[in-house]
Amino acid sequence: MEKPHIEKIDWKNLPFGYIKTDHNIRCYYKDGKWGELEITSKEHLDIHIAATCLHYGQQAFEGMKAFMGKDGKIRLFRWQENAKRMIRSAEGIHMAPVPEELFKKAVVKAVLTNKQFVPPHGTGAALYIRPLLLGTGAQVGVKPSAEYMFLVFVTPVGPYFKEGFNPVNIAIVRDSDRAAPLGTGHIKVGGNYAASLRGIITAVNAGCGSPMYLDAKEKRYIDEIGAANFFGIKNNTYITPKSDSILPSITNDSVMAIAEDMGLKVERRPVPVDELESFDEAGACGTAAIIAPIGEVHDLETGKTIKFSKDGKAGPVSTSIYSRLIGIQFGDEKDKFGWTEIIG
Ligand SMILES: Cc1ncc(COP(=O)(O)O)c(C=O)c1O
Repeated sequence: MEKPHIEKIDWKNLPFGYIKTDHNIRCYYKDGKWGELEITSKEHLDIHIAATCLHYGQQAFEGMKAFMGKDGKIRLFRWQENAKRMIRSAEGIHMAPVPEELFKKAVVKAVLTNKQFVPPHGTGAALYIRPLLLGTGAQVGVKPSAEYMFLVFVTPVGPYFKEGFNPVNIAIVRDSDRAAPLGTGHIKVGGNYAASLRGIITAVNAGCGSPMYLDAKEKRYIDEIGAANFFGIKNNTYITPKSDSILPSITNDSVMAIAEDMGLKVERRPVPVDELESFDEAGACGTAAIIAPIGEVHDLETGKTIKFSKDGKAGPVSTSIYSRLIGIQFGDEKDKFGWTEIIG
């Protein structure tokens, strides 16, 4: 096996991409029960040609991070929420759910057996953790698999947007939908991401970092921003969409608690796209992006542009929330919410 060259990794300039690490963790569900965790250095799977994950999209995944503290300790951020969401995703498309404790054991093993890939404190980078659940049993008719594979791999990552914590431009797309009103938008299954690719390419072709999806039914309300939730700030209030077809973001949930703690009012409600102009600040939040301030929103249909950042910088409220969140994640600030767990 080709060994990764840790000494060659430029921690401060890591992209958000895949870098090979030493190990990944696997576990198999057969005859109605989960087996033991296995550790491997293989990067490929040997999978049945008729596996339901390949044909019928029977798969779900999670995205979370481990952070290196100044104290040299590795912290997981709110892993229980990711475990619970993966159970909801599994149940949402009739897969065998991964029990919370098994999820944790696999995640911890994946991180600790790749300890040297956790980016050093102060680089701004983190170890991205990707739990993945696949229907592996052979079916030709459309029905749930009887067998599953649970896998966890990790990879060190830098900022999701090349802009880092600088304003990113967003394009409102109206010619494709990421999720149907009664579909699977609220769970983290691969099909949603396949459906989102058209919007992503449209946004990128328009020179933007990410698409803004509107509600599929009326195209009146903001749903979300690529792989992140949307928020807007005005009148000392943090406002974020309530919709059945968006992914309940763990980052957004944390940001809402921080905002409230900072004395802001928090509103989770349908947000009409027409309200965009009234916000003083706007942003996107998610594990990968953490918080990405929005510079401009381009409506590709009307040609209208709404500007949030006049000086090319993030607004003061977004900046304060961001600092507190990363302070907690990296262990630089007191974790009054009890969100982090030291694992090594
Ligand atoms: C579609 C979508 N929305 C929002 C998020 C943000 O969720 P979280 O903060 O839990 O990472 C993600 C990323 O997981 C996502 O893929």
